[in-house]
Amino acid sequence: MTDPTPHTVTAADLTLEEKAALTSGADFWTTKSIDRINVPSIMVTDGPHGLRKQTGSGDHLGLEDSVPATCFPPAVALGSSWDPELIERVGAAIGTEAVIEDVAVVLGPGINIKRSPLCGRNFEYFSEDPIVSGVLGAASVRGIQSRGVGTSLKHFAVNNQEFDRMRASSDIDARPLREIYLRGFEHVVRREQPWTVMCSYNRINGVYASEDPWLLTTVLRDEWGFEGLVVSDWGAVNERVAALIAGLDLEMPASGGRTDAQLVAAVGDGTLDEAVLDTAANRNLALIQRSQQRPAADSPLDVDAHHALAREAAARSIVLLKNDGDLLPLADERIAVIGAFAAEPRYQGAGSSLINPTRLDSALDEIRALAAGEVSYAPGFAVPGSKNNPDQTAEQLRDDAAAAATAADIAVVFLGLPAVEESEGFDREHINLPAEQLALLDAVIDANSNVVVVLSNGGVVALPFNDRVPAIVEAWLLGQAGGGGIADVLFGAVNPSGKLTETIPVRLEDNPSYGNFPGEFGHVRYGEGILVGYRWYDARNIDVVYPFGHGLSYTSFDYGQVTAETVDSGIRVTVDVTNTGARDGREVVQVYTGLAQSAVQRAPRELKAFASVALAAGETRTIELHIDREDLAYWDIRVDRWVVEGGEYTIDVAASSRDIRSSTTVTVDGDAVDVPLTMESSIGDLLRNPVSGPIMRGAMSGMFGDQSHNDAESAQEPDTDDTLAKILESFPIGRIVGFPNVPVTYEQIEQLIAAANSATQQ
Ligand code: BGC
Repeated sequence: MTDPTPHTVTAADLTLEEKAALTSGADFWTTKSIDRINVPSIMVTDGPHGLRKQTGSGDHLGLEDSVPATCFPPAVALGSSWDPELIERVGAAIGTEAVIEDVAVVLGPGINIKRSPLCGRNFEYFSEDPIVSGVLGAASVRGIQSRGVGTSLKHFAVNNQEFDRMRASSDIDARPLREIYLRGFEHVVRREQPWTVMCSYNRINGVYASEDPWLLTTVLRDEWGFEGLVVSDWGAVNERVAALIAGLDLEMPASGGRTDAQLVAAVGDGTLDEAVLDTAANRNLALIQRSQQRPAADSPLDVDAHHALAREAAARSIVLLKNDGDLLPLADERIAVIGAFAAEPRYQGAGSSLINPTRLDSALDEIRALAAGEVSYAPGFAVPGSKNNPDQTAEQLRDDAAAAATAADIAVVFLGLPAVEESEGFDREHINLPAEQLALLDAVIDANSNVVVVLSNGGVVALPFNDRVPAIVEAWLLGQAGGGGIADVLFGAVNPSGKLTETIPVRLEDNPSYGNFPGEFGHVRYGEGILVGYRWYDARNIDVVYPFGHGLSYTSFDYGQVTAETVDSGIRVTVDVTNTGARDGREVVQVYTGLAQSAVQRAPRELKAFASVALAAGETRTIELHIDREDLAYWDIRVDRWVVEGGEYTIDVAASSRDIRSSTTVTVDGDAVDVPLTMESSIGDLLRNPVSGPIMRGAMSGMFGDQSHNDAESAQEPDTDDTLAKILESFPIGRIVGFPNVPVTYEQIEQLIAAANSATQQ
């Protein structure tokens, strides 16, 4: 480690040129040193599910090699554990590896929302739900930072596709922006104070994230209290001076001095206040000083221990989608392992997160190690881009696989997406598995109906064979020890407990972003608004193959009657959960809320809390979950702030978003929202106001008859009072003045409004 920087160094000790230089990188991965006053350079490195420390000529696209590091399961998998404790431990291990490699900041976690299954980078993100993304992202930050290493929470913000990612504008309304796309970031920033936040490439409503003062300063710092440094994504800076003014403290990677000179010139000609540059320089100094304080590594990397953790995490990430007739776990059957991914694992996605693993387990070897019976293997298909493909036609490969399945008791078929189809930098065009693999599966099913499909994929795939196979294991991309994790689950050494953090739709066309993804001519419209993922499928009552939150176990769980009560900080939810089977297991208990009579659009059910709970066979535990009051809030566009709406909320305790086990209701007091009355306010608004309401009702009964009178004169005729009330509900009060039979003056209404407004302000 470099000599500690004296804590006293501040921007005041630097020349203008030094300050400008300090706020951009020296090369791909390091900041600039200022030797004159002993300011060292620090190194930052990808992330998120392991270290990608490059030593030679660097790149940010995962093209050049990096030093070996443990490749833990990427977020798509780890997220399926729904377990902050596990994710924190993985984070701490990554932090330890960073300390050993003298890396100051790990570039992750990525917590962008999975808006479309097509996003090429979904494997790096946790969920389609903001609470899951926020809670799990916070756990990752906590773990990494516990080792005195910084994180970079990314990609801030609304970066949900790879297509045209460096220019496209995510055109989005305030509610989805706040409630879906920023909510997770807000959670992590407020609770964990990541050392850095990485701004994304894209524009938001036309403004580049890197030069958006509203995003980088008003929201991030003023509202959420962020104290760290904002770094650009690699090459995200469009206009350096505008970016610095907006709140971007560090441009990465290097600009060869070109944009540093722009800062110096801007201070010179008065377009940039030097104090703004001082602030950014001070944040860089603070980051450097902070990173110098971490304890030095006291031992080399324990490759075995980290590999074991990677295996534990992999097994915990697997989602058992289907297990008819308890086909799994395997025992001493004769097993035909089919599919090239069994021998040549797909275990991570391509791009900046590509890790050079310390080891790599194949599922085939690990199955052989655990199996009591005979194990045969047939590759079944060629993997596009692989150097190890057998020299056989597709038909021969299929025939061999069918023969292996015939000779076995059970066929375990490894299918998945080829690496060339999933990467940072581009999106998928469909969600189908390769036709060749589906044809292979048909041939295997014809040969032997005892089929277990094991999937390797970073983004969800369509499952047209769902009704034709008894068992499906969603094994995502599981990192370097995924092979062992898969074997552990197949043989029951680990009881599966992962659950889906994203919906598996029947068809891509059912997805809410369909038609609005990936946009055109530089704009992508977030037309589905707040109805992202399961919120949409539930609101539209659309069938899905497997719902958000779904995942099976080799045991079963019973839920007791849920109870819920309001407490100051939100709602306390309590439920008894019993492991009713013969095996120890874990259940991910989920809590959803709904508010049927709402003033704003809402999804029928929104996840608000969850817990991953270990239960021994036969054990019952009382699980207490907490819904934070702030998580009940919607973003109110009238007053531009979070508002908790009062009312009777449904509390559903569930094993998945479509497997509700127990429900109750709880009455929540709402926040007061004072929207001042104006001449534009409707008659309905004035009627609801406690001051103007009674006066209005009195006046209106004189004009139109008694508005409280609801008895229709005849059951056959429409209730004219009621109809009139509905029409007047949205009639602007100022425009009724002068109507025939409306004996009020403009001034009288102004007085009434003034009286109502002053009463509310008191
Ligand atoms: C990616 C970031 C990454 C950076 C550095 C960018 O292309 O979007 O996630 O941290 O490169 O590799």
